[in-house]
Amino acid sequence: GRRVTVRDLAAAKERGERWPMLTAYDAMTARVFDEAGIPVLLVGDSAAMVVYGYDSTLPVTVDELLPLTAAVVRGSRRALVVADLPFGSYQASPAQALETAARFMKEAGAHAVKLEGGRRVLPQVEALVAAGVPVMAHLGLTPQSVNVLGGYRVQGRGQAGDELMADAKDLERAGAFAVVLECVPADLAERVTTSLSIPTIGIGAGAATDAQVLVWQDLMGLTPQPAKFVKRYGDLGADLGRAARAFASDVTSGAFPTGEHAYG
Ligand code: KIV
Ligand code: NA
Repeated sequence: GRRVTVRDLAAAKERGERWPMLTAYDAMTARVFDEAGIPVLLVGDSAAMVVYGYDSTLPVTVDELLPLTAAVVRGSRRALVVADLPFGSYQASPAQALETAARFMKEAGAHAVKLEGGRRVLPQVEALVAAGVPVMAHLGLTPQSVNVLGGYRVQGRGQAGDELMADAKDLERAGAFAVVLECVPADLAERVTTSLSIPTIGIGAGAATDAQVLVWQDLMGLTPQPAKFVKRYGDLGADLGRAARAFASDVTSGAFPTGEHAYG
């Protein structure tokens, strides 16, 4: 079985087929999601929070994300693995973007990269595409710009919706293969989706996008206060807590291990 490619995703849009994307940060979850048929795995810079414990995506570095990306590639067989370029690793210039993307592809085996922003990063998108790097764009709530946006809030209301639409069209023209729309009104995401020939991937963007993405820890119930757009499909936080307490109790009481877990 070969990997999913960006052409497969373009073909899915032509057929009107929706698809799921999940984040992944390690080999074991990558394997589980891959075997569940998730066609695209994103090694998000959300790793800053869910893996490294920072309180925003800003601090995480290329050197911190590279080993996670390599693990996700090793753990999966069929999924297209997208590496998120972290804050400060691509904004300075197209040359910087290409240097960073090349590291994710050569050192970690990523198949594509993602970066945040619209017209302000068009030169970067064009340089990457010209160099053979598939680029996923990201509009709306772009967390690397949280200090400009003034918080994690809905984007693209009113006039800003026209700006977002123009950004999306320019990104498509520049060669992006898909665009994430984060925290935007559902009707705007629908208009962008029908106006573009490349797939849109929604997160807090309503039901009309071509694909949906969530951070897996949000989906599985590990995040204490998930956003309104998150639907929980699991209760892993409670499950892990229960298991840890049961293990602790068995160890202190002597109930574990017993003969069946020992070597004679
Ligand atoms: O970093 C991330 O997890 C993301 C997705 C939420 C799109 O950028
Ligand atoms: Na991200």
